[in-house]
Amino acid sequence: MAMAESNIANGRRLPAELNSFVGRRHETAEVKRLMSESRLVTLVGVGGVGKSRLALRVACDVRRAFPDGVWLVELAALESPELLAQTVSEALGVQDRSVRSPIDVLTGHLRDKHLLVVLDNCEHLLDDCAVLAATLIRAAPRLSVLATSRQALGVTGELTMPVPPLVVPGLDNDRPSTASLRQSDAVRLFVDRAHAVLPGFELTDANGDSVARICRRLDGIPLAIELAAVSLRAISVDQLLARLDDRFRLLTKGARTAMPRQRTLRALIDWSYGLCTEQERLLWARLSVFSGGVDLEAAEQVCSGDGIEPDEMVDLVSGLVGKSVLAREDHGSSVRYRLLETIRQYGRDRLRESGGEQELKLRHRDWCRDLVGRAEQAWYGPGQLTWFARLRAEHGNIRAALDHCLTTPGETEPGLDIATALRFYWIASGSFREGRSWLDRLLAADHEPSAARARALVVDARLAVLQSDFAMAAAMLDECHNLVARLGEESILAMSAYVVGFSALLQRDLDGALRMLGEAVERSRDEDDQTGVVNALLYLATAHSLLGHTEQAVTHFKECVEMCEARQEHWFRSYTLWVFGIEKWRQGDTAEAVEMERLAIRLKQPFDDRLGIALCIEALAWMAAGDEPERAAVLLGAARENWRSFGGPLFGNLSDYHDACEASTRERLGGRRFDTAFRKGTELGSAAAVAYAMGEDPGRGRQAGETSPLTRRETEIARLVAQGMSNKAIAASLVIAQRTAEGHVEHILNKLGFTSRAQIAAWVGEQDHRDPGSSS
Ligand SMILES: Nc1ncnc2c1ncn2[C@@H]1O[C@H](COP(=O)(O)OP(=O)(O)OP(=O)(O)O)[C@@H](O)[C@H]1O
Ligand SMILES: [Mg+2]
Repeated sequence: MAMAESNIANGRRLPAELNSFVGRRHETAEVKRLMSESRLVTLVGVGGVGKSRLALRVACDVRRAFPDGVWLVELAALESPELLAQTVSEALGVQDRSVRSPIDVLTGHLRDKHLLVVLDNCEHLLDDCAVLAATLIRAAPRLSVLATSRQALGVTGELTMPVPPLVVPGLDNDRPSTASLRQSDAVRLFVDRAHAVLPGFELTDANGDSVARICRRLDGIPLAIELAAVSLRAISVDQLLARLDDRFRLLTKGARTAMPRQRTLRALIDWSYGLCTEQERLLWARLSVFSGGVDLEAAEQVCSGDGIEPDEMVDLVSGLVGKSVLAREDHGSSVRYRLLETIRQYGRDRLRESGGEQELKLRHRDWCRDLVGRAEQAWYGPGQLTWFARLRAEHGNIRAALDHCLTTPGETEPGLDIATALRFYWIASGSFREGRSWLDRLLAADHEPSAARARALVVDARLAVLQSDFAMAAAMLDECHNLVARLGEESILAMSAYVVGFSALLQRDLDGALRMLGEAVERSRDEDDQTGVVNALLYLATAHSLLGHTEQAVTHFKECVEMCEARQEHWFRSYTLWVFGIEKWRQGDTAEAVEMERLAIRLKQPFDDRLGIALCIEALAWMAAGDEPERAAVLLGAARENWRSFGGPLFGNLSDYHDACEASTRERLGGRRFDTAFRKGTELGSAAAVAYAMGEDPGRGRQAGETSPLTRRETEIARLVAQGMSNKAIAASLVIAQRTAEGHVEHILNKLGFTSRAQIAAWVGEQDHRDPGSSS
């Protein structure tokens, strides 16, 4: 099954730990205790002390207590507080395309959910996080929040836990044994990290004392220990200790009193910085303009020049990774690099001091504009999915660039270019609201008439139409047309005709749709803009289909499918298949229609296009209504459940098919059977709903790659069964009645066609083997 699906079913995976986790036994227990007393717990402490790492560890430990999952929201890279609720929604996989406020959407989605949200690194958005956490807790009685922050959020009912540094060895013992030193978490962390850079490294009687002193020097701050340990690549433990001693004596001017922890860490980062070459320092500072990581290509484009040649980048990046300044992250076949927050801020300060910050922000903006421009060009083609994934990975950087454009005088136009070029991305990623929000604010920031403005207005109007905000869309299109009349940018008219036509289609004005979409197709053909052609043709065909113009509809649909196939394109093709399938079904060719819908779903899965998938499931319900009314009712329920979050009406005239399907199915089944089947559909969960729609019979001969037929709760329980737990133990661990647990196990056996718990255990093992990590 696609990764996105298992994420939906099981909650977002917590990131895998890249290196060993050390100690914290007492703190872990304490956090769990606090979480049992309050639904809002905040871990506070200085930078680098290990708040985030501890939060993730606890989240992973308690995940089974939250059937709706444990979700990590990383806030360090988020600069605009307006996007907070949106960011949380995204991290939780909530898609919503309506005009409701993001916080309403979020509370609506979470109201009946039993889950844990980890808000990591809240300090720079303290007030906003406080309001958000308080709102969520109030709205959702079974939701818990675990936050990390340098300061408490200050919300009533919040319990805070100061995260102490790692325990360092005591002073009482002159020559501590290695066994007693290993009791210290700080020493263990040091030894682990030393071992990573120097595989033969061991704690011995000879070096034990120095290691203990180093850990004390560093106050047991994990980040400081990690930064220091990497220097063992080049020097000995004693040399490291001597250097740290010199350094700190200088800083405290020989005073025997300890420095505050902030200063210890700062001193350590200064020290690391000092160990870097001139060029590495330059790169460290420059990399701090990125938000949410960077790949090599971006680093080359933005950070080279003025002292760094592009072909030196690989060596410099490796140097920084080696010094633990940059963390390497593997994403499938690509590699990204990330600065830990404290280290990024340090780099930002250096960049600011050097007077280079503005220049770097401009280069970052240029890189971003170039990237999204290339993505737009390549969208309608074989690289579509790769580009989609790439933009997703760069979402943090895109936001940083847009934020810069919005807050820097004279930068509106590049901002409009970036937000406009992302037109397909905003739609495909379900970020209607975010796209509109950037476009609205940029358009309001500067009213200078320009082609960039006219184009931005069309894109903004298109997003508004998708949210059924037709009045706003019409106003923006008016302004756009006035601009075009003044500036003579005729090329924009194809796009605007499309938006006017699409809007008419959704509002059931089929003649208007026909006229304007026809115009859009012609203008796009004149401009030789294939993307514009396929996009408009698809809905022109739909308008014909709805009007009963079968021949024109089929001709156009066929042209669309052929165009997309020739370009190995998936997005437009999946939407074409969806409406083409409906046309086929109207003609009575149900078998082919079903195949089309299923292929459309398959094409949509990698985009996690839940809106599109819901539309196809809905169509499959209509197709089943004739012969399999029960199945139709289940599918209607599944589509409704998937549809629920999007708000807005179904799709102009298509909603008539929905009404007819529901009425006839209800009549044939009778109210009670209909309701039962419908409810079964709503309870399937996304992955099982797709499996059902695809006609996979989960009971027999399951093949690799098929989706699980179990609901989230059942999956949870199957895992506990696989761990050998009795029904009683399962009930206790999930805080449910034993009878309920028994009922669930019964269901699981039935659904999987098994007779024993051992079979369930074997099945869980197989699933994990097929899809490792899906349990978290
Ligand atoms: N218990 C631990 N075991 C192993 N490594 C740890 C532990 N605690 C922290 N670290 C490591 O120390 C570094 C800093 O930790 P972390 O990022 O959790 O600190 P933080 O308090 O969240 O800092 P910031 O305030 O900058 O966000 C990370 O590289 C982390 O992996
Ligand atoms: Mg942190």
